[in-house]
Amino acid sequence: MKTTQLKELYLKFFESKNHKRIASASLIPENDPSVLFTTAGMHPLVPFLLGHPHPSGKRLCDNQICIRTGDIDEVGDASHLTFFEMLGNWSLGEYFKEEAISWSFEFLTGKDWLNLPIDKLAVTCFAGDKDAPRDTVAANSWRKLGVADDRIAFLQKEDNWWGPAGEIGPCGPDSEMFYWTGHDLAPKVFDPKDKHWVEIWNDVFMQYNKNKDGTFTPLAQKNVDTGLGVERVAMVLQGKTNVYEIHQLHKILETVKEIANVSGHPTHEQINSLRIITDHIRASTFILGDHRGITPSNMDQGYILRRFVRRIIRHLRLLGAKYSGKPLTPMLAEVVIDLYKDEYPMLNERRDFILTELKREETKFRETLENGLKMFDKIVASKDKEGQSKTALSKEDAFLLYQSYGFPIEMIEELAKEQKISVDTAGFEEEYKKHQELSRVGAEKKFKGGLADSSEMTTKLHTATHLLGEALRQVLGNEIKQKGSNITPERLRFDFNFDRKLTPEEIKKIESIVNMKIKEALDVTRSEMSFEQAKEMGAQAEFGAKYPPIVSVYCVGEFSKEICGGPHVGNLRELGHFKILKEESSAQGVRRIKAVLE
Ligand code: ALA
Repeated sequence: MKTTQLKELYLKFFESKNHKRIASASLIPENDPSVLFTTAGMHPLVPFLLGHPHPSGKRLCDNQICIRTGDIDEVGDASHLTFFEMLGNWSLGEYFKEEAISWSFEFLTGKDWLNLPIDKLAVTCFAGDKDAPRDTVAANSWRKLGVADDRIAFLQKEDNWWGPAGEIGPCGPDSEMFYWTGHDLAPKVFDPKDKHWVEIWNDVFMQYNKNKDGTFTPLAQKNVDTGLGVERVAMVLQGKTNVYEIHQLHKILETVKEIANVSGHPTHEQINSLRIITDHIRASTFILGDHRGITPSNMDQGYILRRFVRRIIRHLRLLGAKYSGKPLTPMLAEVVIDLYKDEYPMLNERRDFILTELKREETKFRETLENGLKMFDKIVASKDKEGQSKTALSKEDAFLLYQSYGFPIEMIEELAKEQKISVDTAGFEEEYKKHQELSRVGAEKKFKGGLADSSEMTTKLHTATHLLGEALRQVLGNEIKQKGSNITPERLRFDFNFDRKLTPEEIKKIESIVNMKIKEALDVTRSEMSFEQAKEMGAQAEFGAKYPPIVSVYCVGEFSKEICGGPHVGNLRELGHFKILKEESSAQGVRRIKAVLE
């Protein structure tokens, strides 16, 4: 069965259960600074999960395009992709566990539907902890349908719980379905760690709200949110053992092989490169196909896009693809557009834009790639001060490769890993921030006709954001986390998770805590430690961010501790008087403060 048929069958099935089809939301979330891409169908539906009425009713189904950059290191194996399509059915306060599970089972095993053999299926349910009980209701529903006890595993929150990035909001236990993809018979007892069991569908039972203080309260409206991975189920239905063998991905991969002249039986490394290129070109084409006009850059979604494209180019080179001045990525994107244009007309409409941007990015990166790789080899071959071979790339080495040759840090790490050496990523981040501050100062200077040297002010405001974050936690609760910040020499801007307007009293209290600390003239100190040590000492970290093994922590006296690249002032007496100018909503569940130092 082709993916288009699978999608139509799924949506028909749920329509027969009185669900209304809704369109896929954009790949780039609107008004949500907490995620760069839509990672699941629930993102655009959060207001409705919380009780806001949906115009299409209480039972919905959809096919949502998603990007999960968190899975990028897994790409190359049999089933992980950064971009994928996810089918979902939704109950907004209507049906719950038993119906959701029985419909999942009916769709997977029913003769008129997917007709998959039950002896190749297994499921997981939530094991229970201090926040929520063991999900015996879900497990009993599976049992009733004929799933054997040996094929039901109970797992903890890391595996069987779903919520928006683990933050406050609607969440709950889930029950995941797995399919045996091995050649031999499926083992009697289900072992979720065995890679031959591939997760194909997830039923989430959103019955709790995670509160600011970390507690969970039952939701008035109990919801169901499910997600079925289209490529994985298509793989199963087509009798394949990896997602790159399904029609569309196979076609892209074959084109990569052709372009790179790979024939015969590819080696393990070649397969890895072929799959990375296939996945990344599809993801890049869809990002460029979005109406918001994301282009490769060093920021946010643009940076992810740049990482994808530059990684494709390096892996094309690894495969031995010849480059004669004609960029290869647009040729690959053409294949993606033609495969998907009927279902996603925007790809065709934006064809020129997609191809032009890829051409520009590839041409630019090709200019420095060869010399950058030579430089990398030279650095690796050079001896350290003691005459020993390198075991790590210094922050200066990494920054040079980034700045002069355009190597994204993740590519530098990948290159280093291949040589079995490490990278001072924490040091790199520091260099990077320093450079960013400098170039911003440069830009401001130009803008203001060279009047202001504002780097000092930016540093002061940066330190003030640490004080503000801590004061917010003291006044509003420990769950407050930074959701983003933006500092210019004139003001600081700080986004954080909170779901209502602050009262004038709260604002006053926050200001006075910050000013009190400034009066205490506390020292600001920086130390380096492992990420685990930093967490143990209670340093604030950005939720969901990937940290290097060694991080720098800035402490303001005993008042605040944060994992941060700096720069900061040495003592708070340099700051002056702190004043909040504005407090407003920035997105659903996110508030924004603008403040100054006078
Ligand atoms: N939101 C759930 C998931 O993506 C269905 O797994």
